[in-house]
Amino acid sequence: MDDQTPTSSTQISPSDNVNHNVIPNSGRTVPAPIAMKDVEHVPSTRWSSFPSIPKIKISKISHMRYRHPSSGIKELITFLLDFGMEVVKQTDSAIWFGGYGIDQYVYYAEIGEEKAFLGGTWEVESWEDLERASKLGNSEIIELKDAPGGGHITTAHDPEGFPINFIYGAAPRPQPTKQPAEALQVNDEFSKPRKGAFQRFQPGPAAVHKLGHFGLTIHDFELQFRWYTTHFNLVPSDILYGQDENGKQFDVAAFLHVDRGKAYVDHHSFFFSVAASQHVHHSSYEVHDYDSQNMGHYWLKQKGYKPVWGLGRHRLGSQIFDYWWDPNGFMVEHYIDGDLVNEDTPTGRQPAGDESLAVWSEPVPATFLD
Ligand SMILES: [Fe+2]
Repeated sequence: MDDQTPTSSTQISPSDNVNHNVIPNSGRTVPAPIAMKDVEHVPSTRWSSFPSIPKIKISKISHMRYRHPSSGIKELITFLLDFGMEVVKQTDSAIWFGGYGIDQYVYYAEIGEEKAFLGGTWEVESWEDLERASKLGNSEIIELKDAPGGGHITTAHDPEGFPINFIYGAAPRPQPTKQPAEALQVNDEFSKPRKGAFQRFQPGPAAVHKLGHFGLTIHDFELQFRWYTTHFNLVPSDILYGQDENGKQFDVAAFLHVDRGKAYVDHHSFFFSVAASQHVHHSSYEVHDYDSQNMGHYWLKQKGYKPVWGLGRHRLGSQIFDYWWDPNGFMVEHYIDGDLVNEDTPTGRQPAGDESLAVWSEPVPATFLD
């Protein structure tokens, strides 16, 4: 008999050790209460029972503020252009970078000596809110004479010393400087709306729309949680907890949204997470869709920038993420497809862990968790 001829012993039989119960993946969009049916719901008394003081009313997140060394400013500009921002204005002491949303700029870079995180910036509802923020920070209100759109700003510091800025009166962008990308018609296996038309792309950076959120690594969860939820209309969408050796649970991270009542807002505009060192973790910018995000990813990769983690899909907030290091070691993120919540959306609480971070992705790198 020819050695190559299969014999009955080499044929697959049902008794082989093959798991036939492998279930293909699936994805569904489900209402939040159903998606969270197996998750602990946190009652609002967790934050509303703190002594009541008049809150400083935030209307939305506005822009990030950083200081970058003058020696590396060309590299920073080149990176942020490759990241999908545009230079709106540049002076000897600062650069304002914009996206294509209603904000005149999403990233303010002060040109200085040492690099520094100068805080996220929140737009407040009224002049009175800005005055309250000024009182909270014991700091003056400064007119932004050079900034595109103008306005007034004041800076406070949280209990761990992180700066936090409040802006009021900045004019929105009069008209978009870039035409927003059009939504693609996508054919799946059953629904094929695109007939007789082709998908065509122009490679390049993923154009940034707006600042979506930023986050801090902190030391004292309770202190920070109390401060942020007491002074501002920031409400947790999700809380993560750890456990000590006796099984006692303690909260370690929170993702917070701006409470606008019935209006839907981003699942988180801000987060903090307990870690060994205190620093800004990352700031995150919305881009158009999955294709633009991927083209942006490969654009950055081909330019030789340092990736951190991505692409992947977050579990909490559902965003598809892509994290990168800027030339000065600040982490920035592109995201698409984030969840929206309102006052009727339950607040969830679940164990912290790598599995809480992503539905799909490469394993989370250690540098992301530092
Ligand atoms: Fe993020």
